Amino acid sequence: MCGIIGITSYRPVSSAIINSLKKLEYRGYDSAGIATLSDGVINEVKSEGRVDNLEKNLAIKNMSGSVGIGHVRWATHGIPNTINAHPHSSDNVSIVHNGIIENSTILKKYLIDKGHVFKSQTDTEVIVHLITEHLKKDSLKESVIKMLKQLHGSFALGIIFKDEPDLIIGARRGSPLAVGYGSNENYLGSDSYALKSMTNKISYLNDGEFCIIKKDQVEFFDEKGIKVNKKVLELSTDEQNYEKGDFKHFMAKEIEEQPTTLKNCIKEYVDTINNDINIHNFPWNIKEISSVTLIGCGTAYHSCLMAKYWFEELTELDVTIDIASEFRYRKNRFKKDNLYIFVSQSGETADTYAALDLCNKHNVKTCSVVNVIESSIARDSNFVLPIHCGPEIGVASTKAFLGQMLVLYILVLKMGILKKDLDKDLYLNKIKDLKELPKLVEETLLTENKIQTVSSTFTDAKGSMFLGRGFSYPIALEGALKLKELVYVHAEGYPAGEMKHGPLALIEDGMPVVVLAPRDKYYPKTISNMQEVIARGAKVLLITNKSKDEIVSENIWETIEVESTNDDLLPFLLTIPLQKLAYYSALKKGYDIDKPRNLAKSVTVE
Ligand code: F6R
Repeated sequence: MCGIIGITSYRPVSSAIINSLKKLEYRGYDSAGIATLSDGVINEVKSEGRVDNLEKNLAIKNMSGSVGIGHVRWATHGIPNTINAHPHSSDNVSIVHNGIIENSTILKKYLIDKGHVFKSQTDTEVIVHLITEHLKKDSLKESVIKMLKQLHGSFALGIIFKDEPDLIIGARRGSPLAVGYGSNENYLGSDSYALKSMTNKISYLNDGEFCIIKKDQVEFFDEKGIKVNKKVLELSTDEQNYEKGDFKHFMAKEIEEQPTTLKNCIKEYVDTINNDINIHNFPWNIKEISSVTLIGCGTAYHSCLMAKYWFEELTELDVTIDIASEFRYRKNRFKKDNLYIFVSQSGETADTYAALDLCNKHNVKTCSVVNVIESSIARDSNFVLPIHCGPEIGVASTKAFLGQMLVLYILVLKMGILKKDLDKDLYLNKIKDLKELPKLVEETLLTENKIQTVSSTFTDAKGSMFLGRGFSYPIALEGALKLKELVYVHAEGYPAGEMKHGPLALIEDGMPVVVLAPRDKYYPKTISNMQEVIARGAKVLLITNKSKDEIVSENIWETIEVESTNDDLLPFLLTIPLQKLAYYSALKKGYDIDKPRNLAKSVTVE
């Protein structure tokens, strides 16, 4: 999704802006641009495609100016081209914007009537003309306040002004925005990651706030222009997490890292000496919670679905799950004895944040499971459970999915024991098995060769299906999503038992179908469902776990066996071959694996 950088400094800023834009590439984007102010003139350079294209533009080499803004754009209003790329400028101001201005059509008409001429198809350009209009009669600060009041929708903004050689305005409503502090220079960024190479001292703007950044001073204001004080946070500097090392892609690195990230997370939550779970600081009496709602988007939603199965199996809690974009507009009955759990890798997903905000407004119990602990979702929930898997740079989520499932499973066990729904011996056994999980994931990662071989069938297919029952069903959905987003082939995740209610019609001769059938209580049923698709000509890739019992079924195209563990933990192991299947299929197609088309790392628009 779009990314913003702003720097005001004692030295030229264009190359530092380009470097920071490269850090934002992981978010997914289609064009990039930069504007600097030099000798009272705003210069703008923009290009379609990668930041590399922008860097190659000769005009960049001659770009001077010690204040500037940069942007990577993920198109919403207007096709991805150079004209629609940000920054958008008038003679007086230049603006970069993340988010959507919902009333842009009305504002555009009002501004055209006043004689403003528009160059692009974007909603952002109205901001340029709006502030230019206010600046005709008001001071800079008053113009900003008035302009922000007129905008509906969500945004993070970075603005520079022709007449202000050392000043950037940052403003936030909905979309995240951070300020970084340097030595005789200060920064604006759409996330802390973009700023990390320059500083580890950060403040975040809250919703409705704006800031005035100069090279030696930063001031924050609320929407009325009243000054607000900010905490300066110090970020950890785990730079090696941002490098690919010997791997060809971040996705490959992040898949292989999973035994370590799981181990790290277990270390944070599991007291291995006393065989207990270290979540003691719930801000509520757990006995007062009688139901749970889990909310997320995409892959994070799949981990919510997984947690529903675990909660129901191991506790007496009532559980509902929801996709955040649905939850936020439904007529919900908010309940005080319900725990609302928000799952998000980035912690910035607009729909998930809006759902959390809604819950906060109803004063109910909120908890978040996030990777980025400085994120908006983490900061605004009552209680945070980090997944401790380190930065995930590959746009398609892999290690964060396992991390989310792990933390949710740990939470299920803890709530189960605290509410006395879970027998103590069973609890201890589950913790014992959990400690073995990283090793089993490591061993399962070795199922490499077969996946490489079968991946070409998926690459060449018109479509494919992923089937599972019970604990394997959420994993089937996740496997299908990975293939869709990376390989751009239609892939449908389905509960295996539901196939006979219509979708069997889709099965054609030679269609690749992944069947997840571990040796759990659903095994015989899933094997029967598998026969139904084989009988209609499907090429079945069976993924099961190792067992001494033979697989009694004929005409299976290929079988992959993951390691064995208790039924609750098998979903972690089943995920591994599916991640690799998507990776190798995309590799065969020569696609941009770390930045698949039309997907962003942090979806900060609705
Ligand atoms: C899939 C993927 C997306 C995200 C979704 C939610 O690989 O990356 O489906 O899972 O956009 O993002 P977060 O977890 O950041 O809220």
